[in-house]
Amino acid sequence: MRIVVLSGAGISAESGIPTFRGKDGLWNKYDPMDLATPEAFQRDPKLVWEWYGWRRQLIARAEPNRAHRILAELERERETLYVITQNVDGLHQRAGSRKVVELHGSVWIVRCLECGVSYRDERVPLPEIPPKCRDCGGLLRPGVVWFGEALPKEALEKAYELSASADLFIVVGTSAQVYPAAELPFVAKSKGAKLVEVNPEETPITPYADVSVREKASSGMERVRRMLNSI
Ligand code: APR
Repeated sequence: MRIVVLSGAGISAESGIPTFRGKDGLWNKYDPMDLATPEAFQRDPKLVWEWYGWRRQLIARAEPNRAHRILAELERERETLYVITQNVDGLHQRAGSRKVVELHGSVWIVRCLECGVSYRDERVPLPEIPPKCRDCGGLLRPGVVWFGEALPKEALEKAYELSASADLFIVVGTSAQVYPAAELPFVAKSKGAKLVEVNPEETPITPYADVSVREKASSGMERVRRMLNSI
């Protein structure tokens, strides 16, 4: 049985990483148009890097939670489990998941606007803001997808392929507001997959879910694991 998981910021909430929407969401405090668009970066790279520097420090201090770990255990127990994540925090990989598609990039990747090189830079805190390319000294940008930008082609193609071939599609901790990620559950459903949603709130996915687990990710994934062990 091919199990495909789509995760959003909610799966990292219990690790202490704020989500974007909902009552304590980041977009309630900050305007994404000032921090998460190419125009914002062009306007004020220092401000954008101060925000990403803060997020990198927060993520570096965070630990994967039980939900991340359950997915890594399920991947070890069943070789056909894949995670597609909208998150840029790398917590799935730190929990031990190997088959992870990062739709929106990673805060640990930087890309040079001068020479185009991309590489992992996990220095916390960054030695200077904005950080400079290790090869050419040019201005670096975070290796994440901003609003208005195309998603990495390979990751998106892989995500569609996995979703279209899923037998079971589990959606954890996403408000399903942002496309194309939010389309993936419908791609899976249209190809006959069973749809399970884990989220303490209802979302646009809820009416289409075969099973709605109205719980936080950790306890919700515990319940999903019990369901899987019973079939
Ligand atoms: N466990 C599970 N789900 C939770 C938890 C929790 N402990 N806490 C909150 N949630 C749910 C919320 O109910 C909400 O549906 O997680 C979801 C978080 O939604 P968003 O903050 O919108 O995050 P996400 O869906 O991942 O956003 C998608 O938007 O800002 C862009 O690029 C950014 O990847 C992000 C994309």
